[in-house]
Amino acid sequence: FHFCYAQQFEFTPNYDESKVPQFKITNPLISFNGRKIKNTKRWEKVRRPELLNFFANNVYGKVPGELEISKWEVVEENANALNGKAHRKQVDIVFNKDGKTLFFNILMYLPNNKEKAPLFLGYNFYGNHAVCQDVKIRIPDTWARNNESYGISNNQFTEKSRGVRKDSWQVEKIIDSGYGLATIYYGEIDPDNNDFYNGIHPFFYVDGQQRPAANEWGAIAAWAWGLSRAMDYLEQDSDVDATKVIVFGHSRLGKTALWAGATDERFAGVISNNSGCGGAALSKRQYGETVGRINNAFPHWFARNFISYNKNEKALPIDQHGLLALIAPRPLYVASAEDDRWADPRGEFLAAYYATSVYELYGKKGIPSEEMPQVNQPLINTVAYHIRTGGHDVTAFDWEQYIKWADEQVVKNF
Ligand code: GCU
Repeated sequence: FHFCYAQQFEFTPNYDESKVPQFKITNPLISFNGRKIKNTKRWEKVRRPELLNFFANNVYGKVPGELEISKWEVVEENANALNGKAHRKQVDIVFNKDGKTLFFNILMYLPNNKEKAPLFLGYNFYGNHAVCQDVKIRIPDTWARNNESYGISNNQFTEKSRGVRKDSWQVEKIIDSGYGLATIYYGEIDPDNNDFYNGIHPFFYVDGQQRPAANEWGAIAAWAWGLSRAMDYLEQDSDVDATKVIVFGHSRLGKTALWAGATDERFAGVISNNSGCGGAALSKRQYGETVGRINNAFPHWFARNFISYNKNEKALPIDQHGLLALIAPRPLYVASAEDDRWADPRGEFLAAYYATSVYELYGKKGIPSEEMPQVNQPLINTVAYHIRTGGHDVTAFDWEQYIKWADEQVVKNF
């Protein structure tokens, strides 16, 4: 069924920089009650918790409880995958509660020349089998968004989508660089539809409850929760260096990676690829997609409380730079694409810039000035940023930068 708040919403995106409204950027180092945060101790004790709490209650929604993995099972593995370069594992992560069962499958490739590999962990949009041309990858049988060119109809994946997203995953490049990759089909945690009767949400309902409360989790927080459960598994997989797991995501899954990185400090680094509105981009700029538009087009992504900022961004006591600051001092990479104006590249850049003061409190280097770098000229510090040519996508160029940054900032083997 559909919720009544998804009303028609007249919307023409603004792409004119001169029409970006004037607004004040909240200083991440001044607490809501006006106190200056002068050291990391106060940041961690006062400011970080209040910001986390704000985003949890008003933007992404709180996870209503705890649920541990009931069991995990390696359902397939081969030490000679990718022409002997990699160890492939497919692991089912299973949750049982009150007669309900949910599972998701983690597909992993680990470089054979490393004992414990640092790893990129990220959700995929089109099934694990879409990330690599490898006939052994299992095809998820959960809900899939129909897509004619990928052979997806009746909400079911088919063989036809095997490898279709390989250019956006660059598995060989990742392996050759000494990293592992772990990926999960996001629809296994919660199908990306405007409903709350399937996926992980119902596991937390009390009797008769049909949807989360206004300050409880939408789909993005549910997906982020799934990344944390994947991390629970990775922590006890002896082939993985769990202290070097970098969470990655594109677009809505980039928003998800940021929220996962903010809520779970076990992630050693975070990559936001073209995450846009509700991700890295500043909402108050109202450039491209806006809060009102996103809540209307995707009413299930955020906490219902977020609706109070529809056409009312100025009321936000903190903008998305506060979300990025929650990742400090861990390395953060924000990436934009020149033609992806819907995601507001400048807004993504400025959020990274305004989060920098928190990184500096830890003696880390972030974005040094308000001047955006030239296209295809990455700025690689603990907070890194690039804007590349092209559109809304993940490319080989993007991965080359992420690997270089991970080498320097996370793994420190350069
Ligand atoms: C839509 C949505 C964006 C989102 C994107 C995606 O364009 O408006 O917020 O990031 O889908 O996930 O690809």
